[in-house]
Amino acid sequence: MPINPRATVTTARILSNRKVGAYHHIALEAGEVGKLAKPGNFIAIAVGGEYSAMPLHRAFAIYRAKADGVHASTVEIIVAAHGKGSEWLTKQSEGSQLRITGPLGTSFPLPAEPVNVAIIGGGYGSAPLFDLADHLKSRGCRVDAVIGASTSSKIFAPLDGKRTVNSVTVTTEDASAGVQGRVTDVLEELIERQKIDLIYSCGPMAMLKAVDEIAQRKQIPHLVSVEEAMACGIGICMTCVLPIRDANGTIKMSRTCIEGPVIDSECVVWSGGIPEGTWGAP
Ligand SMILES: Cc1cc2nc3c(=O)[nH]c(=O)nc-3n(C[C@H](O)[C@H](O)[C@H](O)COP(=O)(O)OP(=O)(O)OC[C@H]3O[C@@H](n4cnc5c(N)ncnc54)[C@H](O)[C@@H]3O)c2cc1C
Ligand code: FES
Repeated sequence: MPINPRATVTTARILSNRKVGAYHHIALEAGEVGKLAKPGNFIAIAVGGEYSAMPLHRAFAIYRAKADGVHASTVEIIVAAHGKGSEWLTKQSEGSQLRITGPLGTSFPLPAEPVNVAIIGGGYGSAPLFDLADHLKSRGCRVDAVIGASTSSKIFAPLDGKRTVNSVTVTTEDASAGVQGRVTDVLEELIERQKIDLIYSCGPMAMLKAVDEIAQRKQIPHLVSVEEAMACGIGICMTCVLPIRDANGTIKMSRTCIEGPVIDSECVVWSGGIPEGTWGAP
């Protein structure tokens, strides 16, 4: 599979950068990127400025992309300060310019019929799911959201996003907001109550695996947006590989920046490492 054919390299101006709980919400004037992005795509951002010693781009899921408005096209991202690159990004002020590549990766496929959908987000992983929810609602789907995090400041559930969906259940491990526990503690009951037909999830790998165990048990299709460490984001370095089963049942270490981040969970081999029998493995 080649790189997303819609991807371009663009200089993007920061329109705003504001703190939202534990995260930064950054809006960019993004050339063609906002026009061409689909829910689930991500962008890769060069960090550290002109003489940066940080050569690797950093990957961020697109929270919202808009093709029109005052600025020709905008892309919004939600950034958690993690290491030096993301920390630098959160400190950039309005008017600064960033070099971005995007839109990258696969996007969330949309159901042909109006069905009952659950979107499950962990931490900043909920960000791309609200744009997806807009698209699902416009196709007549019912959308119930479960948003979880360790603590309330790490819950990302914007007001307009909450208005889009039919219901939002928040879970926190320390009981600082919503139901005490994890997203999986409330998911089975939601599946039964709303007769969920389809699940989309985005968050830490352990959460995706736990959600998938429930989806498989209930035999509900489940699309995940995975987050493997990415060094290049454009298919060159093989840092981001995961064992993925293809249509013939062959397991291949596949690049999640190209064949992902959105993948049918049925194809993901969740065991970790390189499973026995993987194509090309010794
Ligand atoms: C598809 C995708 C979507 C994401 N979306 C978001 C989002 O919406 N919001 C958010 O806050 N974060 C998101 N992330 C995570 C974000 O990319 C990282 O937090 C960020 O790259 C960390 O950079 P850093 O400089 O702050 O941290 P550092 O830990 O200092 O990272 C340094 C760099 O090294 C790379 N790296 C790490 N491990 C390895 C390795 N084993 N081999 C090679 N390179 C490695 C990293 O990818 C990074 O580019 C996403 C990641 C992916 C893959
Ligand atoms: S991040 Fe380099 S190939 Fe995927």
